[in-house]
Amino acid sequence: MPEAASEPASAQTPKLDETPEPASAQTPELDETPEPASAQTPELDETPELDETPELDETPELDETPEPAPPRMDPWLRNAARRAIGFMPDEEGVALYEAGLLGAEVGPLLEIGSYCGRSAIYLGAAAREKNRLLYSIDHHRGSEEHQPGGGYHDQRLVDPDSGLFDTLPTFRRTIEQAGLEDVVVGIVARSEVVARDWATPLGLVFVDGSHSSEAVQGDYEAWAPHVEPDGILAIHDVFESPEEGGRPPYEIYLRALDTKMFVEISRAGSLRVLKRRHPA
Ligand SMILES: C[S@@+](CC[C@H](N)C(=O)[O-])C[C@H]1O[C@@H](n2cnc3c(N)ncnc32)[C@H](O)[C@@H]1O
Repeated sequence: MPEAASEPASAQTPKLDETPEPASAQTPELDETPEPASAQTPELDETPELDETPELDETPELDETPEPAPPRMDPWLRNAARRAIGFMPDEEGVALYEAGLLGAEVGPLLEIGSYCGRSAIYLGAAAREKNRLLYSIDHHRGSEEHQPGGGYHDQRLVDPDSGLFDTLPTFRRTIEQAGLEDVVVGIVARSEVVARDWATPLGLVFVDGSHSSEAVQGDYEAWAPHVEPDGILAIHDVFESPEEGGRPPYEIYLRALDTKMFVEISRAGSLRVLKRRHPA
């Protein structure tokens, strides 16, 4: 290489009487033909960490506030709810459970329409987590559609002695098997009767009793005022389109929003979850 030629003789030509070192040890640089400085630093080109700064580009999530993980319902109770007799789809049940958690921060929970206990398990799971109670009201004689000849009649729920539709034994068994007897307080009566003397402020009211216009409007008028500020009013079977289902639950949903006392905070299927505002 030209550089070797320009070096002083002492460095260039070892004395002949000196035993030369083996070539391999003596002249590695000469044999390897050193490259110019610019080409000599392939290592720098091969270090993408320096040029590409992947750490900075790939970790913006660290700077962002992570989304809070959605609450998870006890899987055993969720399975029990799925297996219970009832109409509420699991997706709506989990949304009801989440609404129950919010409501339970404010006060006890109350549902109108226990049926066989399915929705009571979703709400009961939330109540248990927050050390609250769920009051579950039903006369247990079924709504209009549950009677013989109705679209939702279930012959298994007819008392063979009386011949009457009766969901109370099944409800009791559902709650007992779910281990929620100390959390879910069944009240066997018509909701309008219980409302007469009710005085306890509530963290959540879930309206899922009779779907007749008179009954739904009555449940709204009797129970919505008991929902505390920041508490929840949940309504089932709310259908915007008349082809999908009856109007009364949709009508009280609109009525609640019209008052400006409630704002919608979530929905799942036909479930609407409203939160009570603080008075202005
Ligand atoms: C659609 S079912 C409730 C389903 C239940 N929430 C569930 O998801 O598992 C309606 C229930 O409301 C009850 N019900 C109807 N009218 C009522 C009233 N005036 N007071 C209390 N319960 C009533 C019926 O007996 C029936 O069990």
